[in-house]
Amino acid sequence: MRSRKSGVGILGMGVCLPEKVLTNFDIEKMVDTSDDWIVTRTGIRERRLVRVDQATSDLALPAAKGALGQAGVSAEEVDLIIVATTTPDMLFPSTACLIQRDLGATKAGAFDLSAACAGFVYALNLAYATIASGQYKYVLVIGADALSKMMDWTDRSTCVLFGDGAGAALLGPVPGGRGVIATHVGSDGRYAKQLMMPAGGSRLPSSHETVDKKLHTVKMNGNEVFKMAVRIMVDATRVVVQKAGLNLSDIDCVVPHQANLRIIQAAIERLGIPPEKFMLNLERYGNMSAASTVVALYEAVEERKIQSGSKVALVSFGSGLAWASCVMVW
Ligand code: UT7
Repeated sequence: MRSRKSGVGILGMGVCLPEKVLTNFDIEKMVDTSDDWIVTRTGIRERRLVRVDQATSDLALPAAKGALGQAGVSAEEVDLIIVATTTPDMLFPSTACLIQRDLGATKAGAFDLSAACAGFVYALNLAYATIASGQYKYVLVIGADALSKMMDWTDRSTCVLFGDGAGAALLGPVPGGRGVIATHVGSDGRYAKQLMMPAGGSRLPSSHETVDKKLHTVKMNGNEVFKMAVRIMVDATRVVVQKAGLNLSDIDCVVPHQANLRIIQAAIERLGIPPEKFMLNLERYGNMSAASTVVALYEAVEERKIQSGSKVALVSFGSGLAWASCVMVW
């Protein structure tokens, strides 16, 4: 059992970003859009794409190895692996089981978690609870997506937004006063149709018709999602900071889901937190879905926006709609 005095936090992190860069100028040649439109409306300049022969687990595995290496914990010691993804290698088995095999994490349980772009923070919150309750010691949480494989590359309203990537965090015991201090999750399935991939499940199994109608690609009502996203980012940040017993002004770094710069700017205005406290990297990667928040967290640490003792808020939202936030002391 964990000592009551210790906390639960991140012991190590890793990321994996595909080598191929797709710039806005490249997309200009594919659909009727412009670098100017994309930058002005989203803040995105380029994104990374997996190769045709790569799948989500090919990104998740190096990220997982990086997290274990940084933590100095061996794969055999890991109790549980959670892969947050919307783009598993296949519907089953879970991508987490493929990672368990390839890591040689012989005693770990493994499953995928489906909460779209909110997936990493959902999984982190769950991992925290399993360790805090004394069930497990080390839980590997991975946020990985290859949404480029599910894009309609003729639909300019979606194909400019997303990119591929993976990030991983190993959670385990940390000294008292450090680590996760509050978590929050929420959902509102009334908005399910606003952002979805309609076919490929049991409702609309794959058929010639579903392929012809491009129902295996991302469909989004951008305006509706945008409005909800701002509300969620603001509320989910406020709620979790309050649960942590802190004020918004106590937070040193906010790591938001990187969907659209204008969503983040609207949240900054409403929250009244100084913009320099927000970690932004969507200019370089676009929206990497479940990988978005974890890669931004990793880079915030690399850039020393987060240092030992920093109070960090993670906040994410995505299809479902589903959202999750968390406050931790680094
Ligand atoms: O992880 C969660 C997932 N998603 C999100 O958070 C996305 C939330 N939504 C958004 O980020 C924004 O709604 C978008 C970036 C998707 C769209 O921006 P917008 O400012 O809401 O544009 P809009 O959809 O209202 O479209 C404005 C115009 C339309 O033309 P008309 O009807 O005014 O003539 C669109 O057809 O912009 C047009 N448009 C484009 N033009 C050039 C839409 N996409 C493009 C494009 N290039 N790529």
